[in-house]
Amino acid sequence: MITPVLLSGGSGTRLWPLSRKSYPKQFVPLVGDETLFQASARRLSGAGFAAPLVLTNADFRFIVTEQLAGIGIDPGAVLIEPEGRNTAPAALAAALWLEQADPDGLMLVAPSDHVVPDAAAFRAAVEIGRAAAEAGKLVTFGITPDRAETGYGYLELGERLDPGAPRLMDLVRFVEKPDAASAAEMVATGRHLWNAGIFLFSVRAIIDAFKAHAPELVAPVGEAVAKGRADLGFHRLDPAAWGMLADISIDYAVMERAANLAVVPFAAGWSDLGGWDAVWRESGPNGDGVATAGNATAIDCRNTLLRSEDENLEMVGLGLDNVIAVAMPDAVLVAHKDRAQEVKAAVAALKARN
Ligand code: GDD
Ligand code: MG
Repeated sequence: MITPVLLSGGSGTRLWPLSRKSYPKQFVPLVGDETLFQASARRLSGAGFAAPLVLTNADFRFIVTEQLAGIGIDPGAVLIEPEGRNTAPAALAAALWLEQADPDGLMLVAPSDHVVPDAAAFRAAVEIGRAAAEAGKLVTFGITPDRAETGYGYLELGERLDPGAPRLMDLVRFVEKPDAASAAEMVATGRHLWNAGIFLFSVRAIIDAFKAHAPELVAPVGEAVAKGRADLGFHRLDPAAWGMLADISIDYAVMERAANLAVVPFAAGWSDLGGWDAVWRESGPNGDGVATAGNATAIDCRNTLLRSEDENLEMVGLGLDNVIAVAMPDAVLVAHKDRAQEVKAAVAALKARN
């Protein structure tokens, strides 16, 4: 059995005004009827998967349990982080929690805000990585890059690990968030994939990797788990111990440093919905490139996304080209589609002003 470890801590300001600090994008039905969180939990359920372990913060704990109940999934446990300390402490806490029951078990660490339209293909990729994970490898999933994105990790492919498992590859080097020039170089070689941010390993292998590459995290995270307290079915990690931790991602803390990495290329569609341009792309725009959601109508528009998230607010777009418009009851975004990535900076500016 593989235990899915669902990370649900981020706030996703690039999708403002839909994604808010108090209700981030993973809990919103952005693409399709289910929320991204529900779709992620469902994707990692069924044969071969144990009940999921969810890591989140106190504000989202009831949203998490409600949304899982809504799709008939019982969480194995919900660990509550006193504050966000990024993915390294979260993943290590999950591993130390699972170690108590089964140190040889496998865990699949996955963000809960990605879109993976073909769940069966993804489970098949996980299956390809399973034997390597059982053998102690840290397995990553690689996406074919189509641009020199600097917000992702890059996986440099090596030789095939095992001729009998044609799609499992050795990983030579993991480079997290390269500068623009290095990203362009890596994409040009054709030997690099993007890191999907999803990891499969045994509980033992990842704990050993933390001991080797980020030993300073091991004692405080261990203490946070051990001294945590049960609260209405949630496990609250100890705030004093957690407060001592540095903010660091698993990519920097472990993946860039470890030598025992493998990669399963995954070509069946993946998006981390890193902006409204990605939501537009994943929403299945029509032949004119138009996608609408909620109470919105597009007339003579091209390459445009219109969303009204308020049933009392009727939105009409007329003759628009390359526009993103998103209306909430208390905020409206209207932007050129090519500048979708700047929404994050706009939100930061708003915050500074208020
Ligand atoms: N529970 C919890 N606690 N979850 C967290 C925390 C935390 O403190 N911090 C981040 N997360 C969740 C986020 O909500 C997100 O779903 C996931 O972990 C990854 O964090 P991001 O902050 O979005 O990472 P990133 O996008 O910069 O980079 C990662 O993902 C890329 C692909 O989307 C890396 O793994 C890159 O290498 C990768 O390419
Ligand atoms: Mg991300």
